[in-house]
Amino acid sequence: MPTAARNLVSIDDLSLAEMRGLFHWARKFSGDLRAWSDTCRGLISASLFYEPSTRTRLSFESAMLRLGGGVLTAAEMASSSATKGESLADTVRVVGGGYADLIVLRHASEGAARLASMYAPVPVVNAGDGSHEHPTQTLCDLYTLWIERGRIEGVNVVLSGDLRYSRTVHSFVCALARFGANIVLVPHPGFELPPYVLQRLREEFGVEPVRADASRLGDLAKESDVAYLTPQKPHQLSLFTDTKGLRVDRVDALYMTRPQTERYRDDEAAARYVQLGREEMSVESLRDAVVMHPLPRRDEISSDIDSDPRSIYFKQSARGVPIRMALLAFLLGRIDLGVEADVVESRLYEVQVGDNPCPNPTCISRTEARHVTPTFKLAARMPVRAHCGYCSQEIPASFVGCSTSRNFHEPDSSAIRKIRPDHLVFFQDEVQARALGFERATRAQRSTTTP
Ligand code: NCD
Repeated sequence: MPTAARNLVSIDDLSLAEMRGLFHWARKFSGDLRAWSDTCRGLISASLFYEPSTRTRLSFESAMLRLGGGVLTAAEMASSSATKGESLADTVRVVGGGYADLIVLRHASEGAARLASMYAPVPVVNAGDGSHEHPTQTLCDLYTLWIERGRIEGVNVVLSGDLRYSRTVHSFVCALARFGANIVLVPHPGFELPPYVLQRLREEFGVEPVRADASRLGDLAKESDVAYLTPQKPHQLSLFTDTKGLRVDRVDALYMTRPQTERYRDDEAAARYVQLGREEMSVESLRDAVVMHPLPRRDEISSDIDSDPRSIYFKQSARGVPIRMALLAFLLGRIDLGVEADVVESRLYEVQVGDNPCPNPTCISRTEARHVTPTFKLAARMPVRAHCGYCSQEIPASFVGCSTSRNFHEPDSSAIRKIRPDHLVFFQDEVQARALGFERATRAQRSTTTP
């Protein structure tokens, strides 16, 4: 039996070739969902859900049962030992230690799945970690596009609604960029993509968001600013009829999201939320567009358009079963995708000095502070920028130090280049640096910083 021993914490954990391999298997499984009950016989998956779920949990469990495996469900982890103060790390060690062969985890804290993957002796699948990522919904969304449009490369996708807290969008938009889709953002005012996602789009995938007139998208964008990704790569030019006017003429897929009201205060969302109904769907640019939604919906899609053939959100959610069958069978080593894993994992470094620098109060490194060693990953070297290793938010740093020389520098100082990444220390201000025993580097030290 091939061993996969892989986690799916972020959509980055899968290469494009592996995702395509999963789509092919999902299509094969969907031919007859009942014909695969030997695939995972004898194996058990555990659903650990610390947040509500309908589709994700049930489609995972249905997928495992259809593959002939068994399922353990802890759908109300609030009633589990977590209430007795058990850490997530301990819980996954227990569940992965003989109870189950794979863990599907949903948690309210960003970075929870990353933490779980560090402790669980079995593969961990992220079924949503706070407002951070939801990679298996993205597999379902990409699979839907692949089926409906025959490809993902070069398709024109509009993402609309709460782009700030929608974890489905954060995973989806990065995967779309990797596949070379054209992306248009229509955020609800104040609910734009978080800076760390925008930075990735810009720096890793070469797409630059700009603001432009939304008139061609009809009422959908009336109250929103529209951010278009400037066509920097040739395949993106197809979206724009003229690069100055930046107008969208033909949308292939419109991806709506609900307001994630559980993640922000009521007074933060003053403007009327986007709404899609018959009138909005009558604009020319949406003539051939499919309407997608991870569900649950609220009022952002009127039920008036449910019978419109372009509305495919229920078909999309049905595809959650075969694509999760493919993922489970792959992670459990029961199918071969026939491709190499060519994903480069970005290294995590432990924070050596001072308190946890992550600014996000709902990051797992803060909500389980007693049990978590803070980590960071390097996002850029010049000027130096780091992201929390759990929630991906940028670590604010006015100064950067070296843990061995105990000197600190401005983030754009060329001396930082000589510091080994695992020796980097991030300071909010000079006072903090001095309080931890660091000195501002002298001119001579700036040129001879020891690694
Ligand atoms: C999404 C989620 O939980 O993030 N739902 C889902 O998994 N299908 C979207 C949402 O809750 O808005």
